[in-house]
Amino acid sequence: MNTIQKSIFPTSTEASKNVAKEISLLIKTNNNAGKQTILGLATGSTPLELYKELVNIHKNQGLSFRNVITFNLDEYYPMNPEDRNSYVHFMNKHLFDYIDIDKDNIHIPDGSVSEDNIDEYCETYEQTIRACGGIDIQLLGIGRSGHVGFNEPGSTRLTRTRLVKLGQITRNDAAPMFSGVEHVPKQAITMGIRSILDTKKIYLLAWGKSKAAIVKKALTDKVTDKIPATFLQEHKNTTVFLDKEAASELVQEQLT
Ligand code: F6R
Repeated sequence: MNTIQKSIFPTSTEASKNVAKEISLLIKTNNNAGKQTILGLATGSTPLELYKELVNIHKNQGLSFRNVITFNLDEYYPMNPEDRNSYVHFMNKHLFDYIDIDKDNIHIPDGSVSEDNIDEYCETYEQTIRACGGIDIQLLGIGRSGHVGFNEPGSTRLTRTRLVKLGQITRNDAAPMFSGVEHVPKQAITMGIRSILDTKKIYLLAWGKSKAAIVKKALTDKVTDKIPATFLQEHKNTTVFLDKEAASELVQEQLT
């Protein structure tokens, strides 16, 4: 059942360039065929080099994002989209401000939606993804709690876009950005495990020693909602891109 492909590189820079190449190839092929490309995007430190490389490919090789539609995985809640800690701000600063994407094609969960309307809002987010024909490539990072998106331990394989509580490890990891854990929002809106497993292709990225233990668990532990990333073992088209450090706890037979 575990069909996850592993792609290991000496450095995160080389790995990120390879992921960027794969994504740009799909966009180019779809552009030539007059088709749209639907990308699922993540935030955090992991995709930074990848986004930089996509911007490079746009600038230096003329790759156009006019026919690309994006859906981000998650957003803190509550969160004003204008806030410098919002994922809206993050995506503009690291990708969208430098490419020719149509702003109407960008979707990021809205951290300012009123609590009364959240369920309906989340359902609409799911419907919009479906109406586009589903996500072609979903990018994921992994949290030290084993979360993908903000699906913290306890998130089942049936979960879809919804309001969730953030765990303590996740809030501690975000504390430096917010100048103290007490300022980190306690909740988030996130695509669910089911929403992620419904995507056509998944690229999970992880760099550095601090991710080695959770990467090993995600790839080799029995599937469990205690480590939500293990659900990726049930997806038919997932590749993990690792640097040497993130792969360092996998033994030889787990590398193939
Ligand atoms: C971000 C997200 C999270 C991060 C994860 C890793 O949109 O969904 O699951 O991918 O917390 O964060 P970094 O990359 O900062 O280690």
